[in-house]
Amino acid sequence: MCAGSLVECQDINPEICKVIKDVIKRVRPDEKERDLVSSFAEKIRLEIERSLQDLDVPFSVEIHGSIAHNTWLSRDRDVDIFILLEKIVTKEYIKQEILERLKSRLNYKFEQRYAEHPYLRAHIGEFTADIVPGFRVGKIISAVDRTPLHTEFLKRNLSDELADEVRLLKTFLKGIGAYGAEIKTRGLSGYACELLVVHFGSFLKVLDSFSKEERIFIDFSKSWEKEKAIKTFRRKIIIIDPADRDRNVTANTSVKTFYLTKLASKMFLEKPSIKFFYPCVKENRIDLTSLKKRCFISVMLEKNTEIPPDTYWGQAKRIERLVRRFLGNIREIYLYVTNIIDSKKYIYIVIEVNRAELDPYKEIKGPPVWASTKDIFRFINDYISKNAIGPWLKGSKLVFLVNRPKSEKYLIDHLEKFIRRIRINPSFISFRILGTTEEIISMMKKYGVLNEFISFVNRRLPWLRCND
Ligand code: CTP
Ligand code: MG
Repeated sequence: MCAGSLVECQDINPEICKVIKDVIKRVRPDEKERDLVSSFAEKIRLEIERSLQDLDVPFSVEIHGSIAHNTWLSRDRDVDIFILLEKIVTKEYIKQEILERLKSRLNYKFEQRYAEHPYLRAHIGEFTADIVPGFRVGKIISAVDRTPLHTEFLKRNLSDELADEVRLLKTFLKGIGAYGAEIKTRGLSGYACELLVVHFGSFLKVLDSFSKEERIFIDFSKSWEKEKAIKTFRRKIIIIDPADRDRNVTANTSVKTFYLTKLASKMFLEKPSIKFFYPCVKENRIDLTSLKKRCFISVMLEKNTEIPPDTYWGQAKRIERLVRRFLGNIREIYLYVTNIIDSKKYIYIVIEVNRAELDPYKEIKGPPVWASTKDIFRFINDYISKNAIGPWLKGSKLVFLVNRPKSEKYLIDHLEKFIRRIRINPSFISFRILGTTEEIISMMKKYGVLNEFISFVNRRLPWLRCND
């Protein structure tokens, strides 16, 4: 059982062994669960194959992803099913001839989704199946076409023992908030975990490498020079796909994920705890009086229900970046942090700043001394008539101090004007600024994301929560 990490832990820190044993017990499916999941996956695979029997393009229906690799986590019920077409067809064909056929012939609850191509997500009892069309035509046409090659590679290189190491790594990354390549997380994908374990040989060796290395470079194609690869892919983690030397498997992984994983690895190896894998979630205490002196604002964006998560998360992150830049340019405001919270109907960009009101005065810079005499007089007369303080010379420029108009006093008014100017469609159809902590809390409560807001307020790394 799990020879790798369970042997290595003795040397590093015997306490690790206990934690790892505990996790393995929870995440490794027993034979009964394995049978249940594989027979279910096979049943759906067959049903899809049958429903497409009269398709005029040759195809095969196959199970890939963590179920095929034996790296799925106990109690996970996600199945990845691929329909591999042996002839190139259009997106329209995929939609009309394949997805519509499946929808009309199979009695599942379907959701149509989009990645590079349209695909279906089916909810069948406690299971979720992603049914993804792709091509098998001897060259890569769409991103999913590499998937069967991934399964082939892992069948050859990932033993049952290593599969448990992958389970440990996935659970660890889930716990610290670094699992999943989607835009929301920009963490490590399941496939990246599998390749890391194949390369390093165990969960603990992966952590050891994260804790020590400045960057991670793994080349399964054995065809890249490290420096050249770094220049080409420009990422902290580069894992060249064994199925394609031009693809970095971790292209979507952010620097933040790398730093977070590095920190968690260092801390875990020194002071192991189950909390890295299963962080404490009991967080719903919030003490309003302790927040009185702090200043929170939120931009609440109403989601367009037609838009899939990767698209609206991408746009929400762009809006978040613009907001950060906008606030960063207001001299009196210090921006501590922003984050995004996703509820069913709304996305919230939550912001903490040092203050929500600007100074009662503002400085008006006028023309420099070498400007035309006419412009200088115009500026001076204009502001003296408004009873402004000054003018005096600041460097080469004339300066007045004026009363700030009421309409410019509050940060939320500036923010509101700013959001009006930027594009929020197609992902969002309207917005609202929540200007007080009370207002934010009441909205978050109403839409079931108060815990996320409390995590934002507390901002404690997941594995350090509930220590008090
Ligand atoms: N895949 C990939 N790169 C990604 C996401 C997915 O190459 N960023 C491919 C891989 O071949 C992977 C398959 O799609 O095996 C299925 O992806 P997914 O379900 O996201 O991951 P799993 O490996 O199945 O992990 P999990 O247990 O979380 O489902
Ligand atoms: Mg999967």
